[in-house]
Amino acid sequence: MTNTTIALVTGATKGIGLATARRLGALGRTVLVGARDPERGRAAERALREGGADAHAVPLDVTDEESVARAAKLVEERYGRLDVLVNNAGIARGDGTGRPSETRLATLREVYETNVFGVVAVTNALLPLLLSAPSARIVNVSSEVGSIGIMTDPAHPLFPVASVAYPSSKTALNMVTAMYAKELRDSPVKVNGANPGYCATDLNHHNGFRTPEQGAEVSVHLATLPDDGPTGLFWGHLADGSYGVLPW
Ligand SMILES: NC(=O)c1ccc[n+]([C@@H]2O[C@H](COP(=O)([O-])OP(=O)(O)OC[C@H]3O[C@@H](n4cnc5c(N)ncnc54)[C@H](OP(=O)(O)O)[C@@H]3O)[C@@H](O)[C@H]2O)c1
Repeated sequence: MTNTTIALVTGATKGIGLATARRLGALGRTVLVGARDPERGRAAERALREGGADAHAVPLDVTDEESVARAAKLVEERYGRLDVLVNNAGIARGDGTGRPSETRLATLREVYETNVFGVVAVTNALLPLLLSAPSARIVNVSSEVGSIGIMTDPAHPLFPVASVAYPSSKTALNMVTAMYAKELRDSPVKVNGANPGYCATDLNHHNGFRTPEQGAEVSVHLATLPDDGPTGLFWGHLADGSYGVLPW
C-alpha cells in the first residue's frame, strides 16, 4: 500500500474539478481524475501529468451505478484506501427562466441524478475505503444558491433569483452533507460542503467572475483540513469576496 495521499475528484475533466485536481497534485497528492468520458479523462490525466502531478484517469459516471461500483473496485484494488473524495461533478439545467412554475419534472430529475443521487452513490461506494484511511476528507461541491438562508434574504444580491432545479439540488446536497457529517462524527472522516463562488466555466457559459482556480481553493482547503479541523460545515466564498462559513 502506498504512503501517498490518494485523492479522487469527480468531474475532473475541466472547470473547477480540473483545477482542484491540479492543486491537489501540486501538493503532492496522487490524484484520481474521475471522468465519465474516457477520452476526456485521458486528456485531463495527460495535462495534469505534464504539470508534474501524479494523475490517473478513473472512468466514473456518477449517474451510472455500475460505473461507480467499477471505480470503487479499481481504487480498492490499486490503493486499498481513499484519503480524499471531492464530489465535484455537477450539472446545471433549467427550463425557460428556470422558475418553479416553468420547470419540467424530467429536468429536475436529471439535475438531481447528478448533483444529489450521484453524490450519495459515489460516497456510499467509497465509504469503506475512506474509513480505511487514517483521516479521510469528503468535500461536497455545493453552491450558495443552495442556501435557503441566502436565497430568502431580501438583502442578499441573489434574492431576485427564483430558479428551482439547480438551486434545490444543491439544497438537497447540503442536507446530504450535514447528515453524512453527523453519521461520521465519531470517525476520523470530515465531511464539508464547499461554495466555490461564481466561477467562469462551461456550467455557466463562462459568465462567472472568479477563475476555476479560485473556486478550487475552497475544495482544496476542505480536502486538506487538519485533524482538529471542522466537519459538517458549509464553507467557502462569501458575497463580499472573503471566505467563511455560509448558512445552510
Ligand atoms: N461554476 C460555478 O460558478 C459554480 C458555482 C458554484 C458551484 N459550482 C459547482 O462546481 C462543480 C463543478 O462545476 P464547474 O463549474 O467546474 O462545471 P463544468 O466546467 O461544467 O464541469 C463539470 C464537470 O462535471 C462532470 N460531470 C457532469 N456530469 C457528470 C457525470 N454524470 N459523471 C461524472 N462527471 C460528470 C463534467 O464532465 P464532462 O467533461 O464529461 O462534461 C465536468 O468534468 C459543480 O458541482 C457545480 O455545481 C460551480
